[in-house]
Amino acid sequence: MNRRTFLKFILSLPLFGALLLSVSPLFRYLKPTAGAFPEGLVSKPDSPVRVRNITFPLSAFPQPWVVQEFVFEQKNPEYTRAGAQISRIPGFALRIPGKGADDYQFVVYSRICPHMGCIFRYVPDPNEAATGFNYRPPEGTPVFACPCHLSVFDPLQEGKVVSGPAPRPPRYFNFEIDKGSQTLVISDVESGGIA
Ligand code: FES
Repeated sequence: MNRRTFLKFILSLPLFGALLLSVSPLFRYLKPTAGAFPEGLVSKPDSPVRVRNITFPLSAFPQPWVVQEFVFEQKNPEYTRAGAQISRIPGFALRIPGKGADDYQFVVYSRICPHMGCIFRYVPDPNEAATGFNYRPPEGTPVFACPCHLSVFDPLQEGKVVSGPAPRPPRYFNFEIDKGSQTLVISDVESGGIA
């Protein structure tokens, strides 16, 4: 091999390399169902899982209509190398009237408005609900109300939309009362998305 041919050969090596590297993507472009990507390159779809339970002592709710705020963290699967991302879902745990002072009844809802995702408020004052949110609740019934487009939700009717454009009640949380430790334990959020 003379010097000119040798130099041509050396200079053409990167071109051959680039061509070789493009074969696999080109093949996948032409035949996308050629096979699964190698293990670990993408995450497998999975169900969201809670990062930890949220707990409150029952003593944090000394009477009906006391509300506590919390942020529930949920790990969601994602098609990335990390395989997941953490969603932080703000919520309200609200004690509602029961049959007596020791009867603890709760509703627990995500605060993310199902209309367009604003964070809604707890509005215990019916006058504020009437003047600020265009809805007068029955006397003595606080509501959840969204400042963005004035959707109002009734906590005593399973979060029913009683005013405004929201298409459905906010997502609820699953919870239970641990009688031994006298604790409210919030463990999961209604499936189907965040808002
Ligand atoms: S985002 Fe709540 S009413 Fe529109």
